[in-house]
Order: sequence, then structure tokens, then C-alpha cells
Amino acid sequence: VARFNPTVTTEKIEHISPLRERLDSLRGKSVIGLVPTMGALHAGHVKLIDTARQECDCVVVSVFVNPLQFDRQEDLSRYPRTLEADMTICRDRGVDVVFAPAAAEMYPTPPACSVDVGRLGDQLCGKYRPGHFRGVATVVLKLFQIVQPNRAYFGEKDAQQLTIVKRMGSDFNLPISIVEVATVREADGLALSSRNRHLSGPERQSAAALYRALREAQRQIANGERDVSTIITAAMAEIPRTDTVRLEYLELVDPGEMEPVPSIRGPVRAVGALWVGATRLIDNVLCAP
Ligand code: PAF
Repeated sequence: VARFNPTVTTEKIEHISPLRERLDSLRGKSVIGLVPTMGALHAGHVKLIDTARQECDCVVVSVFVNPLQFDRQEDLSRYPRTLEADMTICRDRGVDVVFAPAAAEMYPTPPACSVDVGRLGDQLCGKYRPGHFRGVATVVLKLFQIVQPNRAYFGEKDAQQLTIVKRMGSDFNLPISIVEVATVREADGLALSSRNRHLSGPERQSAAALYRALREAQRQIANGERDVSTIITAAMAEIPRTDTVRLEYLELVDPGEMEPVPSIRGPVRAVGALWVGATRLIDNVLCAP
């Protein structure tokens, strides 16, 4: 990957007060962009970073595997941690600051307060990962408070997360523009995710079925089908029936509220979660009638 801005020196900061000191001198004069990540950076993150680099004077990438958003201890312990490789990518893309705090810096004591995301957090992924979006919203609000960015960048792949962050921004009047960045895909359509590195060869083959299913829903809708169960049945036929693949959910939802729609009357988002072996993948596509 070509270096984006070789003139920028990327600084790694692990603590909140030096980060605040570094950024305080820029406030009001420069546009500060935040790309929140859990590390294990891939081309999807690079697209977020490059978009931020184009739009902001100072780009901060946070790398923090947030324990609060993991519903299973096993998922937290096997989440990839690759800080040195992440630093290299950030240097190559001209990131100004990588904020990489330890858990004790972010949560010196177990937090008593958290963000209640209401029913937006109880459906789709939230139904299967209780407390996940509370943990996401809480850490994102903390990162917003610590960095106080003008703009923050999130991927369309995590559509429910994006909706919740946007909603938190408007409900709490946060002076931050939330920027949505399109999903980056492999040649066969598999959405890039830090979890893809857990897939074995045969699992990697099966993983593309989720995108094929979502595309089938999109095709059905574009061709005039309006019955939700017909569309979902056609989409689910793309999922292989093997022991290693298990569809967790596949729904057509309202793009704003993320609620399942009873019929197709306007644009909908086809959203799904698929287990391939021990790896859980999510994806979505926007479908226009
Ligand atoms: O999308 C992610 O990587 C995480 O959920 C986020 C937004 C960095 C919060 O931990």
C-alpha cells in the first residue's frame, strides 16, 4: 500500500492526559477526526482512515479492545491484538495520533454509568449479544469525550452500531459529525472484518454465502418482489446446509430505525449474521425497490 502522507509523524499515546494536551492546542483552529477501532486493522479501516485524512487536519485512530462490548469471554480473549502492525498501517496512511490505552486507563474502576440505547440495542445483533450495544455506546461516548473530535468515522458494515452512534449523537446533542464509510469487500463479496482471520480455508469459502444471500434479497426487491417472507426464503436458499454454517438471523429492516418491515414500501436494509465454525460474521446491503 502506498504511503498516503509520508510527511506526518505518527505518535502513539497511551494515556488520556497527554492526548488531551496534544489535541487542546489544535481545538478551534483545526478539524480533528476520530477513527475508533479495536485494532487488527484491515483495508476497511484504511478506507475510514483515508476518508478522515482527506477531511480533517488531525487524524486520531483509537485502538482499544473494549471489554464492555463482549458478551462472551472467549470472544474477548481470542480477539486479534496486533498493535505493531496497526502502527505501521497508521504511519503509512499519515495518521497523526494512535490512541492505544490499556483497559485500566479507560476503566480505572468498573463504570457505574453506561449509555442505555433502548430498543435499538435489543434487536438484530443485540438480541443475540445482550449488552453489546450498551458497551459500544458507552466506550464511543468516552472516546468522544476524551478526543472531542469534530468528525468521527464508522463503517456501514456495522449498520446497527452506526445507527445507534448517530442516534446517540442527536439525542445527546453531541457536536460531532458522524461520517458513514462504505463497506470494503473481498473479490467474492465477503465484507472485510478483523474476525475473518479466524476462518480456516473451507470456512473462508462458506463465509461469502452471507453476502450472496443479502444480494439475493436485493435482487428480489429490485425485480419487484414485495413479500418479505418470499424474499427472505429466496435469500436463505443461498446459505449452505452444512454443520459448520449456521444463520443467526436474516431480516429486512427500516434503514433508520432498524426495525423489521412488514412489507416493502421503500428502501430497506437486508441485514444478517452468520456463524461459520466458531466465527460470527455480520453484513448488510441497502435494497431499493
Ligand atoms: O466497530 C468497532 O470496532 C467497535 O465497536 C468500536 C466502534 C471501536 C467501539 O469499540
